Amino acid sequence: MSTFAFHTYGCQMNVRESEAAAKALLDAGHTEAPDEASADIIIVNSCSVRGKAEDKALGKLGLLCATKRERPGRVVGLMGCMAQRMGKEIFKKIPLLDFAIGTRCADRVAPAVEAALQGRTTLALTDLHERPDAPSGHVYGDGFSAFVTILLGCNRRCTYCIVPDVRGDEWSRPARDVIAEVRELAAHGVKEVTLLGQSIMNYGLRTPAFDEQDPPSPGGYTLPFPRLLEAVAAIDGIERIRFTSGHPSGVTDELIRLYREEPKLCHHLHLPVQSGSTEVLSRMRRGYTRERYLEAIQKLRDAVPDIAITTDVIVGFPGETEADFEATRTLMAAAKFDNAFIFKYSPRPGTVSATWEDDISDAEKARRNQILLGDQDVRGAQQNQALVGQTVEVLAEGPSLRNKARWSGRTSSNKIVIFTPPEGIRPGDLVKLTITKAAPQTLYTE
Ligand code: SAH
Ligand code: SF4
Ligand code: F3S
Repeated sequence: MSTFAFHTYGCQMNVRESEAAAKALLDAGHTEAPDEASADIIIVNSCSVRGKAEDKALGKLGLLCATKRERPGRVVGLMGCMAQRMGKEIFKKIPLLDFAIGTRCADRVAPAVEAALQGRTTLALTDLHERPDAPSGHVYGDGFSAFVTILLGCNRRCTYCIVPDVRGDEWSRPARDVIAEVRELAAHGVKEVTLLGQSIMNYGLRTPAFDEQDPPSPGGYTLPFPRLLEAVAAIDGIERIRFTSGHPSGVTDELIRLYREEPKLCHHLHLPVQSGSTEVLSRMRRGYTRERYLEAIQKLRDAVPDIAITTDVIVGFPGETEADFEATRTLMAAAKFDNAFIFKYSPRPGTVSATWEDDISDAEKARRNQILLGDQDVRGAQQNQALVGQTVEVLAEGPSLRNKARWSGRTSSNKIVIFTPPEGIRPGDLVKLTITKAAPQTLYTE
């Protein structure tokens, strides 16, 4: 039997799918390699969201395939969004590649590995309008935290975004399946689950077409999203629930009530804004205005004062003027984001915005990016400073990477805390700590 390693790019959904594929390889009798260099089988799980993400994966695959010269039996495979987007083209770019498996079919990785070990090449793409299978199988170690995909695909079709083309039609998993999966996780000692979906607040909103042929069982296939959160919170052993990514349309009174009343629901929301200019938002087809977004945040902060809100922003979208950019800057200040991921716009083949001129130079995108990062650093430091002196509940993760005598963990608001471990502590324990020092990205205790 062989050893394997995964190299995963992209979002948490890819992390989840790499794990599901790893589980299938373990079940087939393979073992996890101690490191990538020694692995007999290496699988790159890829992302297409920006050109750079694809370039990185292509570079990596090139290097890995070059190692096959010294290690002829080595298997190098590709899965995920870039495989789905490129299809058989990928074999022209990377001729020594053993397989390319698209999205929604992590279960085809193990058979592709078997074929590769026998010298056969596999290309498996998915019909993106088909009813998808959720990634199944978790690797149980001493992990206390797990991802659970609840919404597959995306129907929003923001004009810049490749995700609907590589992940396919939106589909909500049956609530029963989600609950069964979380119960199994809890039975294996998992304490924190993060529910995943590109536009997760659409969970349960749309009735998929196949439901018409395949009528719901008693109780129905899905629940409204807040009901699903409650059902997950009712599972014994689960201490914390997170979810990503949010959209202002889902910030309802019902969700806000849950943030206030359901102690297991973490006080953190990742709510990508993309731009602070209503004009840009409308060309992005995001479905909200600057005012509507700020209103949603205000409502949340009024009701849940300690909630942390994080975001994604794109700079240099086609036609983004200096005034549009300033609007993003002022929105970010008004929203008081706890953290922000800033991306330079990258035209993606086949998307609507790729037909518009990419008229902001790379240097200008870099300048706007730097300004927003600088602002966010100052804001993050200020916001964390305000937590000094407060007592917070931290889920202990284990020894910190930099200093093994100290441990790291996360607050409900998803902030990292470095602390001295109390006697007898184990990863996954909840501890109350008083913050004594703050940095832009990290909190400390003495
Ligand atoms: N479904 C999530 C986003 C998933 S993609 C949502 O809608 O909130 C993650 C982030 O990548 C996006 O929020 C966006 O900021 C960024 N992104 C997506 N397409 C991009 C592109 N073409 N160029 C630059 N950044 C992009
Ligand atoms: Fe892309 Fe928009 Fe869907 Fe997010 S909601 S995945 S940005 S199309
Ligand atoms: Fe990337 Fe695919 Fe996720 S394009 S962001 S890995 S859905």
